Amino acid sequence: MSGLQEGVRAARDNGTGERPVYLIGFMGSGKSTVSRILAGMLGVKHLEMDEVIEREAGRSVSEIFAEEGEEAFREKESALVRRIADGGAAGVSCGGGTVLRPENVSLMRGSGTVVLLSAAPETIYRRVGHSRTRPVLEGHRSVEGVRELMAGREEAYRRAAEFTVTVDDKTPEEIAEEIATLLSGNE
Ligand code: S3P
Repeated sequence: MSGLQEGVRAARDNGTGERPVYLIGFMGSGKSTVSRILAGMLGVKHLEMDEVIEREAGRSVSEIFAEEGEEAFREKESALVRRIADGGAAGVSCGGGTVLRPENVSLMRGSGTVVLLSAAPETIYRRVGHSRTRPVLEGHRSVEGVRELMAGREEAYRRAAEFTVTVDDKTPEEIAEEIATLLSGNE
């Protein structure tokens, strides 16, 4: 059996597979793609928080920000974290700002494993600098702007994370495999 297969089996066997694995990190760090692959590897459901919020609200994240304000979005986000924390095994792609509320972080850490995907500001800018679906980026559309935003969140990400995986120059499959190995305690 390969190291990866062993890692995946161990991740399931030691109970990690019964609990959510929360991927956190800045917009554009690859949370959605990686958590979809990871969930497939672990044989658990995949949840993309923004997608669930959009589906339930019947409108986009940008529309929620514009029409109800950021706080209303953060409330929906916290309500969803509460449900996910009670919902058993899942690969969860969190929103980039989910860790800004300490109450979310304690629920996430208490119910599952929190993994930070860490990327350089240059990588983030290249990937999402021109995205029109991320209202938080407005007014920060430059590498420097992204660097500033990231600096303001650095501590929240570090505090929340049990594991950190750097993502620059890695494929989503490589990152998912690295996480599966970390989860299995094989690292
Ligand atoms: C946000 C990140 C977005 C989304 C919302 C707010 C943030 O998620 O939740 O636009 O505050 O960083 P992604 O990280 O999936 O882009």
